[in-house]
Parts: sequence; structure tokens; C-alpha cells
Amino acid sequence: MSDTPRKILVTSALPYANGPIHLGHLLEYIQTDIWVRFQKLNGQNCLYVCADDAHGTAIMLKAEENGVTPEQQIAKVKADHERDFADFQIRFDNYYSTHSPENRQFSEMIFQRNKDAGYIVEKEITQLYDPEKGMFLSDRFVRGTCPKCGAADQYGDNCEVCGATYSPSELIDPYSAVSGATPVEKQTTQLFFDLPQFEPLLRQWTRSGSLQEGVANKLQEWIEELHPWDISREAPYFGFEIPGYPGKYFYVWLDAPIGYMASFKNLCDREGLDFDDYWKADSDAELYHFIGKDIINFHGLFWPAMLEGAGLRKPTAIYSHGFVTVNGAKMSKSRGTFIKARTYLDHLNPEYLRYYFAAKLNSRVDDFDLNLEDFAQRVNTDLVGKVVNIASRTGNFVKKFGGTLSAHPDNPLLVQEAQQAAATIAGFYEQREFGKAMREIMTLADHANGYIADKAPWSLAKEEGREQEVLEICTTALNVFRLLVLYLKPVLPGLAERAEAFLNIPPLTWADSATLLLEHEINKFNPLLNRVDMAQIEAVLADSRETNPAPAAAAGDDKATEEEAPIGIDDFLKVKLRAARVVQAQHVDGADKLLRLTLDVGELGQRNVFAGIKAKYAPEDLEGKMVVLVANLAPRKMKFGVSEGMVLAAGPGGEDIFLLSPDSGAQPGMEVR
Ligand code: MSP
Ligand code: ZN
Repeated sequence: MSDTPRKILVTSALPYANGPIHLGHLLEYIQTDIWVRFQKLNGQNCLYVCADDAHGTAIMLKAEENGVTPEQQIAKVKADHERDFADFQIRFDNYYSTHSPENRQFSEMIFQRNKDAGYIVEKEITQLYDPEKGMFLSDRFVRGTCPKCGAADQYGDNCEVCGATYSPSELIDPYSAVSGATPVEKQTTQLFFDLPQFEPLLRQWTRSGSLQEGVANKLQEWIEELHPWDISREAPYFGFEIPGYPGKYFYVWLDAPIGYMASFKNLCDREGLDFDDYWKADSDAELYHFIGKDIINFHGLFWPAMLEGAGLRKPTAIYSHGFVTVNGAKMSKSRGTFIKARTYLDHLNPEYLRYYFAAKLNSRVDDFDLNLEDFAQRVNTDLVGKVVNIASRTGNFVKKFGGTLSAHPDNPLLVQEAQQAAATIAGFYEQREFGKAMREIMTLADHANGYIADKAPWSLAKEEGREQEVLEICTTALNVFRLLVLYLKPVLPGLAERAEAFLNIPPLTWADSATLLLEHEINKFNPLLNRVDMAQIEAVLADSRETNPAPAAAAGDDKATEEEAPIGIDDFLKVKLRAARVVQAQHVDGADKLLRLTLDVGELGQRNVFAGIKAKYAPEDLEGKMVVLVANLAPRKMKFGVSEGMVLAAGPGGEDIFLLSPDSGAQPGMEVR
């Protein structure tokens, strides 16, 4: 550790104010909290700020749905978020809101500086407008048929079936997700942040070495195709009106990262800290953003460019993590694995989850699987069976023989080994290799437990005149225990506090690894942590299970954590599949992915079907081929004509698509099962 403490400012992404915190979010906040607690424990000057992300259409509509004002909506959610975070022992130096005077001021300032520097441009664009609701529709609020593959019900900005990205006006049969009305096109002038001007800066910044490998590569790809970024939205919008542009508001993603600064400013004003010292262009403070992999473009491209354009410092590094899955699958409401923070807390100790996350986290962007059996087993084996066990097998003998630790440990080498691990473990924490840190700690615990089993103080304690020996053995064990508790303290601050009370010592800091606890009176041992019971986990799942989960609405969309309820066999049997022969296959004017197929379906006659398979199949390859048709799909009117069914294919789309074909003996019109 250097003599002058490092000045470190840390953030986690700002959770949206339209829904509860769930286990997916918690991976990020717990990861960040562990890192921050380690820095603080290690004597650094480290501050952790966060806030609710309170603006945008989704929140405005959510408030409407709940029959409250947006201000009431965000106040309620913020209180819930803060309570959840506090109960998971996530300790922010400040938790604020993007709907704050500080954030308005900084958003205006950063906008104005970028505008003065020529980085803001106005452009006339055509946007979809909901005539019923009287509002412009952002990409997520327009749905319709994918123009590339023909998949129904896709978002206005990208297709979840084929992965294509497009603009909402390209959708076939678009409709408003807000009212269901057919949107009309309307001209508006919008403000754009001219990202392409920052290409050289971004090239250099993304190669500066402070980004994770996969992230840097992804950003390089994006830099190849930078576009001006639309930063304004039309009223009605819940956000900040743009000075000089009545009726236009900053897009939520403009003021969201600025919310990091606003929360920090709020802290500075309260505690008398020097804000500019952290944010001026040549600041010597370190700035880290912990985020999920889904928002890398905002933090790795737009944000550094906006800061540069405003003459402010850029982040030192961005640390991104992957997504949480439960038992190997996306979190699901029907399986009960879409677990809210509060539901977990109703049944389980937050320390279990903090430990499990730590035990499996590394510095990479990999997704994180929460396997519930593994979760119970790791917590029980490692924390209860290894760490706490050291104290529970030795603590009471000290009490029995006078209550004071001996002047010398029986095995100084064992204690020394644990002391010397401090530097390695600190290195792992610093590198966000928490899993490696936990393994190192558990190895030390194994050594201590082996030693205790070997010495069997419980037998010696029964023999006459061996009190001193027993005390020295227990002094060895409890000194290792004290060090392990210290090393676990960033992860398990509550356990550390209970252990400090038992050991009768002031709060441990990292520097305490250099000292030992000798000739010191300790308190009576009380159980420090209970085992996880699978029944508690079952209770969490039962409370989380929703039998009829609402489909992920466009508003308040839970990112990548939602999937549909499983269907029963009855539902499946409703789908009527028939063998069909391709009579004719044709290109479709104006559609670059679609083919029009004319199918012979035997007794059902002929059908016309549009299929998004052009990237793979040429029309002449298809004529005469047998395919499988979904025969009872309601006809859909598309831009190019009516589609009377759907042909089945496997694969993610594009060139990787494989038409399914019935056995060569099948005749057109035959039912397929
Ligand atoms: N409001 C934006 C962030 C603005 S930051 C200036 C946002 N909010 S969010 O509530 O959707 O997500 C907050 C953080 O939680 C993001 O970093 C996101 O990646 C993370 N996670 C949300 N769901 C997650 C999982 N299922 N798994 C892991 N992290 C997830 O994005
Ligand atoms: Zn598509």
C-alpha cells in the first residue's frame, strides 16, 4: 500500500425507477460493494455513489398505469430500492436520483459546452407518431413485423428473432405499443450529438488498456460505424426540457450517466468535498463505472465522448459483468426464478448471496449462473463448515480456561501462513478476481481445520493439567479465524461484525493482518451463521412463481430476464402442421430477406406464404421441395401481400437457416406431428 491514499470514485449503473431490484441487478451492486469495501478497508479514499434512473417514456407510462404522478412513482420506487440495497448490505456513500436539480444543471452544462464546441447538430427526421395518444413513439414503443425476416410483434429498433436492426418506419404493419393505434409519420427537428467527430478520441481511449478484452473488441467494432446520436425527445416526456428548445427533452440516456456526477455533487455539498478535483480534465482521482454488458455502448462510446466534448475527465476504466441466469436458464416468472430482492430477503440471509456471488465472480464479462443447489452447498460447506467451524470448535475452551488468549500460539507457522496471504488476497480483490480470493481463504480454512482435528483440543481439555496447551491451540485457531474474517470482510461485513464482537476487538482493517491477537480477553462464542436449508430456497421459488406472468410489456421491459410461460400439450396441439410442396418461389420487390412461396397443401388447396429465408435459399432450389406448414395461423396482412401461414425452419436466421422437411414419403396436405 502506498503512503498517500488513492482517490477513487466508483459507480454502479443507475437502476430504472419503474420496477423492483431483482437478483440480476444485485450481482452488479454486490460486486461493486465488495470492491469498494475492500478499497476502504485497505485505507484508500474510496467513494461509492449511485442513484435511481428516473426519466424516460417507460417511467412516465408506468406512473400513468399506476395512477400516480411520475414524481410519486419515482419517490416510491427509490424508497424501495434503497431499502433493498441497505438490507443486502450495499453501502453507498450517496444514493440519489437523476430527477434532481444537480442533474438538471450538469445536463444543461454538458449539453451547452458540447453545443458551443460544435458537437450538437440539428436534423429534420421523420418519426412515428401515435395519433390516439398524441405522442411521438420512441423505438421501443412501436411494434410490428420484422422487415427482414417477417417475424411478427418485434420492437421498433431490432428483431429478437433474426437480430436485424432497423428504424421503426421500416416495420411492416406497425402499431403503437401504448395505444395499439397505427402510427403515422411526422416530421420533427431533433438534436443529435455528433459522435463521429470523436472517432480518433474513441479509438485511442478504447485501446488505452483499461477496458476488459472482450469489451475493447466490441467497442472497436462499433467505432467502425459511428452515427450521430439522437439526444432529444418530444413532449410528453418525463425528463429535463432542453434550454432553448421548448417542448423538447433530453433523452433519458443523455442525463443518466450525468446522474453519476449529480449524485457525487450532492455528496460533495453535504460533506464539503471538492467536486472539481474529481471531474476536471486533468484530475488525479480514479473513476470506475461498474455496469452490465448490455449498456457498454453508452458507457464506452457516448459517455467518454460527451465528457471530452465538455472538457471533463474520462473514466479510468469501465468494469462490465455478464447476466445472471438461475439453474442454467434465464430468470423466469413461471419457474419462480425471477427473484426479487425482497422475496429473497423474506426467507434467506443476504450474506449467503453475497458469498455465492463472490465465490464465483471473476473480472471477465461472462454470464453468471446461480445454481440453487450449488448455492446452498457452497455456503454450508465453506462458510459454516469451514470458517465459522474454526471458532465454534475452539471458542468455548478459551472461555472455560479463563477467557484470555495465550501469549504464544501453539503453531506460529500456521498463523504466519494466514498473515502472509494478505497481499495475495488483496491483489485478487483489486483485480476483481473475487473467486480466487475466496478459494485462497478457504484453503487457509482447510489448513486450520486440519490442524484442529489433529490436535483435538476437546480430548486434551478432559485431561488434567493441559489447560495451557489447549489455550495455545485455541489461540492459534482463533488467530487464523480472525484473519479469515478480515479477508472476508468486504464480502461479509455482518459476519465480521459479529466475529469482532465475539473476539472483543474494534473493527478490523486490512492493516490488522500484520498483527496478532495475544493475551487478549474474548467473549462467549455464539453461533455466527446458520446453514442454508433447501426448504428456504423452495419458499423463495414458491413466492416468486407467477402462474400467469404478464408478457414483458414494452414499458418497464425486464431486460433479458424474462421469457414466456411454458405451454401445455393442449396448447401445442392447437398448432396444425401439414406437409406442403413448394409450387413456386419468387423474389419480393423491396424485401431483401423475404421469398414468396406458393404451396400445394393437398386437400387444403394452395397457400401463399412469405418466409425470411432469402439469404440462404434461391427460389429455384425450393421449387418441388417438401416443407412443413403451420396451417392454422391466422392470415397476416403484410406490406407485400397476405401471408397465409408459416413454414418451419431451424436456426438463428440469416444464412443460418434450415427449412424443415417431412420424410420423402409424405404427401402434400398430410398432417405432421
Ligand atoms: N438505467 C440504466 C442504466 C443507466 S446507467 C447511467 C439501466 N438500468 S437497469 O435497471 O435496467 O439495469 C441496471 C444495471 O443492472 C445494469 O448495469 C444492468 O446490466 C444490470 N442488470 C439488469 N439485469 C441484469 C441481470 N439479469 N443480470 C446481471 N445484470 C443485470 O440499464
Ligand atoms: Zn427479424
